[in-house]
This record gives sequence, structure tokens and C-alpha cells, in this order.
Amino acid sequence: MITPATIEQIKNRLDIIDVVGEFVKLKKRGSNYLGNCPFHNEKTPSFTVSPSKELYKCFGCGKSGNTITFVMEHEKIPYVDALRWLAARYNIEIEEAQVSEQQKQQFQTADSLFVINSFAAKFFDNQLFNTEDGQAIGLSYLKERGFREEILKKFQIGYNPQAKDTLAKALVTNQFNKELLPRTGLVAVRNETELVDNYRGRIIFPIHNISGKIIGFGARVIGKAINAPKYINTPENELYLKSKVLYGSYFARTAIDKQDECLLVEGYTDVVSLHQAGIENVVASGGTSLTIDQLRLVKKYTNNLTIIYDGDSAGVKAALRGLDMALEEGLNVRLVLIPDNEDPDSYVNKVGTAAFQQFIKDNKKDFIIFQLEVMLKDAGNDINQKNILVNHVAETISKINKAEDFIKQQAYIKQCAAILKIDEGGLITLVNKLKRDKVAKDDKKAAAAEINYQNEFEQYPEQQEEQTLFVSQDEKHERNIIRVLLEYGLHSFSETQTIADHVFSEINSFPFESPEMIKMLDLYKSQYEQGLQPTTKTFLYFEDHTIRDLAISITLFPYELSSNWDKMYEGKTITNTDTKDMDVLMSVNYYKLKKLKKMFDQNQADMEVASIDNQLLLLRIHMELKEVEREITKKLGTVILK
Ligand code: CTP
Ligand code: MN
Repeated sequence: MITPATIEQIKNRLDIIDVVGEFVKLKKRGSNYLGNCPFHNEKTPSFTVSPSKELYKCFGCGKSGNTITFVMEHEKIPYVDALRWLAARYNIEIEEAQVSEQQKQQFQTADSLFVINSFAAKFFDNQLFNTEDGQAIGLSYLKERGFREEILKKFQIGYNPQAKDTLAKALVTNQFNKELLPRTGLVAVRNETELVDNYRGRIIFPIHNISGKIIGFGARVIGKAINAPKYINTPENELYLKSKVLYGSYFARTAIDKQDECLLVEGYTDVVSLHQAGIENVVASGGTSLTIDQLRLVKKYTNNLTIIYDGDSAGVKAALRGLDMALEEGLNVRLVLIPDNEDPDSYVNKVGTAAFQQFIKDNKKDFIIFQLEVMLKDAGNDINQKNILVNHVAETISKINKAEDFIKQQAYIKQCAAILKIDEGGLITLVNKLKRDKVAKDDKKAAAAEINYQNEFEQYPEQQEEQTLFVSQDEKHERNIIRVLLEYGLHSFSETQTIADHVFSEINSFPFESPEMIKMLDLYKSQYEQGLQPTTKTFLYFEDHTIRDLAISITLFPYELSSNWDKMYEGKTITNTDTKDMDVLMSVNYYKLKKLKKMFDQNQADMEVASIDNQLLLLRIHMELKEVEREITKKLGTVILK
């Protein structure tokens, strides 16, 4: 736990241009900076950074946020890690609130393992490139397979000599903790005290975590594996949890993000070869079935997963087992099988980059359809088999249950019904039944969440990108009041009043209606009344992201007070002005006019059904409203009419 004081210190030191500038080439444009968006592929820059507002917004893909969210998004790390990242960058010492003894121990062990691994990787690298053995045995083998030096260096590939303890000796000489060394899997204890190497005469592939630190190794025999396993991998320890790792993810993350697709292969060499061929959005699972953690890692970057396996590998079956989980995670899974006993590594070496990419493009098969076709072929004319198959397909489709995938589900039902030559309505009924069963089985909470999703979906059948599109005319005026408060609330309005005081008293008899804006106003008020001097910046750094997002969209998409009102108010044109007082005056009064109009309408509706007595009362209200309206328009008129 980082203490609030440290967080405050970090926020005070942030410089958004400095931080974003580390990843994006920025050019000054007026008061803002402009660059190519790091979150999507673009040729003309639309990524805008405002140093004064301390926020960024891409007008291409819509991503926006503050310095902290930028680090979170760009590095794909959680809030707390982003704070740590920034603290490290600005040399701010982090004060931690209590962690348990056991946690501390674990951190320390993990840290020490990092240090040992990083030493070992350098050692292996040096062995490969700078020793006679390394060059003659390791490097020549790798070169023969077509790997060039730059790519070997990039992936920090190395070599461990055949002798029994070359690395072990170096580790001992460098005084690494002897108790800890065996936990890395690099060495083992023989005869109680003797340390020997585990990866003798092997090519070493370091395994990096998502931020580039080495958490383990895969060690391959040179040439054919006879009487020895082809690969020896790091055992599970405080650092290396196989189920959470995808080999190559550190080198692939930017490319995956940009191309919005992740290629998944089986082996270390597949990743390295494809990289060398310029295909960088690729990671490897290590030949086992995909775990939920690995799928979530992919999903941080993209929804599109393309699995590339060799046609007759056992890996295909392993991958098929991961499918249902992938669907539940909302991933679009496609499959490509490499022909003729080749794997991605050998195939790209054989046909070259362009042909490889074309092959992937032409042979990408939707996973569900792929599975269906394979099984249909197996079933042949057997009615029983076909029945089982229909049920299986319905089950798979029913697993697509996130609201945003509703359309996808419908499309699958259509396609699968056609392939199976069965009635679409029947398949829909079956899928729905399975979905209901699943809901019933899940615990109550999950069921409730699902229904919520569905309801939301039915309310908004078209997914709309920009949340401001949902904002009603009424709410726009409320947003505008919040904007004024955030921008100028603390400035003085008169000798005795701040603009915030003024706005509060002005809108007192015209309460907000939108729940979100009520929340924003309450938050602002409570901060203001506690003397915390709230500004846009305060809201941009709220930990609650809905508040942050609202603050961003309010300040970045200020509601233009124009067209409708000039038509409504006798064709008077509003002179666009950006002085503060004018802005406040107009914002407050147009807000009130808007609410008045609503009151008129309501009054009118009431009048139509009211008794005679009440009609008189309502008429008086009407006159009063008219009077208030006249005052407001007069106030506005004296300053803004042309
Ligand atoms: N693997 C493993 N242990 C083994 C064999 C394989 O951990 N004994 C894992 C490795 O991660 C390996 C992947 O499964 O990269 C795929 O295995 P395979 O296709 O046999 O190896 P390749 O990576 O293709 O290696 P090469 O091209 O050198 O044959
Ligand atoms: Mn291979």
C-alpha cells in the first residue's frame, strides 16, 4: 500500500508532456502537443496532449485520460503499479503502509531471483558470443537454423557450455545466496554441497515478463534430443508461474496493440523466427493448453486471437481445450494450421514473410466453425453422432454470453445451423435453454450480473462509442454548469463571492436531474466546502474512474451554447465570447432557461387536465415563470445581443 502522502507527492511532480513524450514523439501545436497515437495505428497525428489541463485525448480512437491513466494504458499495468513507475521516474521515495512479514519475504525472494536470472542471462549471452565453444557449438547451430545475430541479441538468447558447473562456479564466485540458487532451476545440489549446472550444452531462451524482466529460462538441446528432454524449463517458483506467462509477450505487446491482433504459436523458436521476419505480434504458449490467465493477458491488448499451429500437432487438441474459456472471455478466436509437417518457424523460413502473412490471411478460420467442420466430418452420416454434435455446438455458442457479443452469438447460430443443415429456430431454442441452465447453475450474484448485462444491451441496441452521444440536451446544460465550476469556481465573482458561491445560489431553485451530474455537483460542493479548492485537476486524479472519465469528457467536449437557443429566443445571435464572466453568466442563465422551459411544459400539461380552481393557480405559476424568463433574457440580452 502506497501512502496518500506519497501519492500526493507523485501527482505534484508529474509532467504530462515529459511522461507521454517518452513514448510518443510530440510536436507543439498552439497550446497543445500533437503526436501519433500510441494506442492505434495512424499516419496523421490525432493524439493531443494538453499540458495545462494535464490530459490527453486521441481524436482518432477516442482514448483519453491523465498522466497516470496513460502509464496504466500504455504499460498495461494497474493503478498502483503506474504510481510506482512514476515514482521511480521522478526519484520519489515510496512510503509503504504495512505489508505482512510473509509478503515481504516473498517480495525479497522474488527480487533476489530476478537478480540471479539477470546475471545468468548475461553469462549465457557472453558464452554464446564470446567463447570458442559458444561460437563453435551454439552460435553455429543457431545460424544454421537461420537466426541472425540481431534477433538473438534482442531476445537475449545464450548458451550454457557442456562442462558440469561453468555457471555454478560463476554464481558462487559472485556470492549469490546458495540457499536460493537451486530455486532458479539454473543449478542443482549434488552430494549435499556441490552445485552443478542444470542446462548443460544447451541453447538458452530467457523468458521475460511483460515488463521485460527475466523470470525464467527454456533450455534446448543442440540438435536432436536423444536420451534427454528437448527442452528443460524453469520450475515454478516465486517468479515463474507457467500458467501466467506467454513467451515473447514483452517484445510483442506494442505490435499486438497496434495491429489489434495477437498471434499465438507453440514454441520459442516460432516466436523468434516470426519476429526476425518482421511479424512481431506473436507470443508462444509453450505447447500446453491455454490457461485463463494467459487469455486474460492477451485480452489486455486485443480481442482478436489467432492461433497458428502445425496441422498435426498435439497442440491443436490442447488449444481446442482452451476454446470455451476464450469465448467466455469475449475473445474472437481464429485458427490457422500450417501444412506439410512444418511449424511457423520452418514455414516462414521456407516461404518468406509476405507469403507467410498471405497464408495466414487466407487460411484463418473461425474457431467455432473450424471445430464444427472437423467434428461434422468425423460424424459422417451417423444420426446419433450428429445429435451429439448439435448439442455440443449449442453448448459452445451458449458460452458466448457477454452482452457485447450478442450479435456474434446470433451470427454463429445462423452459420452453424446452415452448416449442420438444421432449423435455425431450433438451435436458438437450444442455445437459450443452455444459457438458462447455466444461469441457474451459477451463483445468484453472477446470474444477476448477467441479467443486468442483457437489460443494458436491450436498452441500447447500438453500441455507441462516444459516451457524450448519450447525453440529453438537459444534461448538457448541467454538464456545462459543472464545467464552469471546475474551470472558474475558485475565482472571485464579486467582492464577497466566488464564482462557485454565485453558481450555487443561482441554481439553487433549479436542481439537477441527471444522477451523474448530481454526483459531480455533490462531490464538488463537498470538496469546496471543506476548503479543498477543487479544480478540473482534482477530478482528473480521482481513483474512481467514472469520475475521471466524466471530468475529461466535460472539459474536453464543452457543450456549445448556441444554435437551438438563438432560434428559440427571437432569432437573437449569441456572440461567441470566451471571457470568464460572460461564460459564467451565459452558462448559468441558459441552464435556467432550459429548466424553465421544462417547467412551462409541465405547467401546460397540468393545466390541460386541471380543475378550474387549480387552473387559476397554474396560470399564476405560468405568469411567474414568464417573469423569471423575462428577467433572464433581459440579463442575457443586454450583454449578448447583436
Ligand atoms: N516444450 C517443452 N518441453 C519439451 C518439448 C517442448 O517445454 N520437451 C515446449 C517448448 O516451449 C517448445 C514448445 O513446447 O518451444 C513447442 O515444442 P516443439 O514444437 O517441439 O519445439 P520448437 O519450439 O518448435 O523448437 P524447435 O523449432 O527447435 O524444434
Ligand atoms: Mn520448431
